[in-house]
Amino acid sequence: MANILITGANRGIGLELTKQYVQAGHHVDACCRNPSGADDLNALAGDNVAVHGLIPTDAASVAALATSISSVDILINNAGAAGPAPEQQSGLSMDFDGWLETFNVNTLAPLRVVQALHPALKEGTDAKAITITSQMGALDLNWPVMYAYCSSKAAVNKVMRMLSVELVKDNIAVGLIHPGHVQTDMGGPNAEITAQESASGIISVIDGISTDNTGCFMKWNGETHNW
Ligand SMILES: NC(=O)c1ccc[n+]([C@@H]2O[C@H](COP(=O)([O-])OP(=O)(O)OC[C@H]3O[C@@H](n4cnc5c(N)ncnc54)[C@H](OP(=O)(O)O)[C@@H]3O)[C@@H](O)[C@H]2O)c1
Repeated sequence: MANILITGANRGIGLELTKQYVQAGHHVDACCRNPSGADDLNALAGDNVAVHGLIPTDAASVAALATSISSVDILINNAGAAGPAPEQQSGLSMDFDGWLETFNVNTLAPLRVVQALHPALKEGTDAKAITITSQMGALDLNWPVMYAYCSSKAAVNKVMRMLSVELVKDNIAVGLIHPGHVQTDMGGPNAEITAQESASGIISVIDGISTDNTGCFMKWNGETHNW
């Protein structure tokens, strides 16, 4: 049984990851911003699911969580935001405050969470720090939309790639995973795959991440992603 900590566990891909890890017999520390409103997640709470309030963009909230977690085998930075409305994050029309907030959620928060849980990851077995990124962060994707979102995911890719080099000495692997285009609030109802399919694929990909391939950028289906 592994100890797994997931952010943004109240809905979408994070909720489905929580369900599937618990069904497989693991323990999940499931984090979300508003536990009292997380009905679907609270329905899973029990011996193997502990629900925690966590605002990943808030340093005090992240530090408080870290005091209650002693050991993590797999950390999944899943919480993420699409940012301002598409027409307000284009090359010629930008909500700059919204862009900064998108960076805060998608880029700064994942590193803040890893830093706070570094002692717990060092206590883990073959520990892994995983971030759910996006194909939209790939530099070779010439699709000029969602500038705030795309740049925040490109930046978290670089941050985690660098971190992978540093954490090898602690036997902690770092991985980036594009979850596919997924039927969630973010991906919309016409997306290509269900949250169940995405989560199942992500779990298989995480199984294959180790210090041997740390710093990898993978797709949910096991293929390597271009940077
Ligand atoms: N769906 C896709 O097609 C797709 C494609 C590529 C990458 N992704 C990535 O996959 C991850 C999960 O997305 P999803 O599809 O499951 O989306 P989702 O259903 O919209 O869920 C997003 C999760 O992130 C949390 N979140 C949103 N804004 C936040 C903020 N400002 N601070 C902290 N947490 C926040 C949400 O919590 P609240 O309920 O509290 O808002 C929720 O738990 C994200 O990192 C996303 O970028 C998704």
